[in-house]
Amino acid sequence: MQDKTPILEMVNISKSFPGVKALDKVSLRAFPGEVMGLLGENGAGKSTLMKILSGVYKKDEGIIKIDGKEVEINGIKDAKRLGISIIHQELSLLPNLTIYENLFLGNEIVKGFKLNKKDMIQKSQEFLKKFNFNKSPKTLTRDLTVGEMQMVEIIKAISKNAKIVIMDEPTTALTEVETERLFTIINQLKQQNIAIIYISHRMEEIFRICDRITVLRDGTFVGEEDIKNVTKDKLISMMVGRKLEEQFPYVEVEKGKTILEVRNLSWKKIKDVSFNLKEGEILGIAGLMGSGRTEVAKLIFGEYKKEKGEILVEGKKVNINSPKDAIKNGIAYLSEDRKKEGLVLKLSVLENMMIANLKAYENKFKRLNKKKQLSDCKDYIKKLSIKTSSPYQIIKNLSGGNQQKVIIARWLLNSPKVLIIDEPTRGIDVGAKKEIYDILNQLKKQGKGIIMISSEMEEILGISDRIIVMHEGRITGEISRKEANQELIMKYAVGLTD
Ligand SMILES: Nc1ncnc2c1ncn2[C@@H]1O[C@H](COP(=O)(O)OP(=O)(O)OP(=O)(O)O)[C@@H](O)[C@H]1O
Ligand SMILES: [Mg+2]
Repeated sequence: MQDKTPILEMVNISKSFPGVKALDKVSLRAFPGEVMGLLGENGAGKSTLMKILSGVYKKDEGIIKIDGKEVEINGIKDAKRLGISIIHQELSLLPNLTIYENLFLGNEIVKGFKLNKKDMIQKSQEFLKKFNFNKSPKTLTRDLTVGEMQMVEIIKAISKNAKIVIMDEPTTALTEVETERLFTIINQLKQQNIAIIYISHRMEEIFRICDRITVLRDGTFVGEEDIKNVTKDKLISMMVGRKLEEQFPYVEVEKGKTILEVRNLSWKKIKDVSFNLKEGEILGIAGLMGSGRTEVAKLIFGEYKKEKGEILVEGKKVNINSPKDAIKNGIAYLSEDRKKEGLVLKLSVLENMMIANLKAYENKFKRLNKKKQLSDCKDYIKKLSIKTSSPYQIIKNLSGGNQQKVIIARWLLNSPKVLIIDEPTRGIDVGAKKEIYDILNQLKKQGKGIIMISSEMEEILGISDRIIVMHEGRITGEISRKEANQELIMKYAVGLTD
């Protein structure tokens, strides 16, 4: 690699926002035909660096070279012209436009003074087909799932003849199949000598597809390495600046009485799902994406209306027809889709954290105890190491992972009896993952019941007391912590039973 000229060099880039130095003399190089992994904790500066490269932000200092020549990037147009294309961490498609309109946004094909819809639709059809994406180009974007939107975003970025493609956490909303498809696409891009800059918090992905990695910490450059020369432990300590002793801390807690019972839950493809949960227990739900885990959670939480079945809380049958009912009965649900649900971008960290808990802070005269709110908010900022300049910071200005931590704090503050948490650590950095496990363990010690849906095998195995596995809407296996292993879970997840 090193004897070639880098296709991209970013040298000593600095960038400040009011109150934060997001980047302090950071450098990054990428060569043609390689995947450069850009790693670091939530708030380390990864997205900011990539937004500078793609012309969204202007750098304060530093130089950028493409093919060895210094360039000026003063806006998105400059970046495009230089062959830089980005898939943003936050979805950036316009929901009220169709797929083809989004694909050609800013690049419309015109005939005379009129848009050439026919050509755009036909070209879109070709792109979609190339990526096995079976939707009409005329579909409205808002009717797609988050994963499908992400695919459109990806197709859009690579359909532009780019030389450098930036992918900022592209797989967080993708299914396994879609992720595999993306990896195939990445390999094709490499063969065309395109450089890919890949941001992810998923270790397996990084080791699977990156050729080299660059690590940032707190807005500074930590190192650049060949992937072959680093181990997982080395990477973690580069990212968090220390060794993580126990990545998946497990605590033994005496189980109490049954707190939640689910009997014969059925809805659409969900068939007769029954299980129970005890006080002081973490029940892991494993399964492939699309196996029905999230549906079960949303049925218990009242977001979907069950066709059949019963739910009992502390031995009593409860009627849950809406999330409100669920919350009233002490059930909280932290959705996997924190980007789409739950954040109010214009409000502050404090307001976003408190929004579901206002009642808990009212005194008997219905006045809000703002002091208590502020101190609880500060407490969670510390506990989850949320990187924000203050509790009053507008949440839109936080990094993606830190926004998620605020939503997690919101539900933890609610102190429910039963907490259902869907993909709790998706998009969260390794250090903060451990902090979240510590908090779940603390809740466990307080006698709460926790249902944790997760696609991360290590996480399911590491912190669950018991695991149930789903396949196509049914429970195919139940495994105790002692007998649990990856093979057994996979066996049930693909639908094999004993
Ligand atoms: N528009 C903005 N205004 C103010 N501060 C910002 C803005 N954008 C980013 N920041 C701050 O800059 C720092 C770096 O954020 P950045 O989004 O680059 O992190 P990241 O490495 O992408 O993290 P994550 O893994 O959570 O996505 C954070 O402290 C963030 O709050
Ligand atoms: Mg980011």
